[in-house]
Amino acid sequence: MNSLIITTILLIVAGLITGSILFWTLCLGIGPTPTSRKVRSAIRDILPNNVSGHIMELGAGWGHLIPTLREKYPDKKIEVWERSPIPAIYTQFVYGIEVKRKDFFEADFSNAKLIVCYLFPDAMKRIETEIMPELPKGCWVVTHTFSLSGSKPVQVIKARDLYKTPVYLYQVH
Ligand SMILES: C[S@@+](CC[C@H](N)C(=O)[O-])C[C@H]1O[C@@H](n2cnc3c(N)ncnc32)[C@H](O)[C@@H]1O
Repeated sequence: MNSLIITTILLIVAGLITGSILFWTLCLGIGPTPTSRKVRSAIRDILPNNVSGHIMELGAGWGHLIPTLREKYPDKKIEVWERSPIPAIYTQFVYGIEVKRKDFFEADFSNAKLIVCYLFPDAMKRIETEIMPELPKGCWVVTHTFSLSGSKPVQVIKARDLYKTPVYLYQVH
């Protein structure tokens, strides 16, 4: 009897977790797909050395980029945004980092010096039109797979994976 109750509770919890992830994937247009190890390695190579202020990750998912950012910028605070509650709670707990569980399009970008994200084409278009104009001059943007179609990257490198995933570095002029 006890094991039946425990199994039922576990199934309900698993269903709620899956349902929440699916719901937010549909709402946001993308799920918490992590950046692969080989693409993270390319990101490590392209991250700029001199970042004099605020670092923001837009849509942290399960937090796979946080160790790379911490390794490169050990003294910097990383502002992490993730709207989907389950990945946000996981990332906050596993990496011991505050995660802003809100829509990053509502963030204040006035002090941003580096933006890192991995999103999808429609979100990249919104970044181009809604966020890029708010970024201070000199701010870096690092993204991969999907580019900012209206901006010219400073550098593009290819990850050593099957897809030769492009990793882009932009700077606001
Ligand atoms: C493809 S995942 C990338 C995860 C992580 N950055 C990585 O590279 O491993 C994109 C994440 O962005 C989040 N996201 C998408 N739009 C968002 C928004 N407007 N505000 C906050 N989070 C958002 C999604 O929930 C998802 O977890």
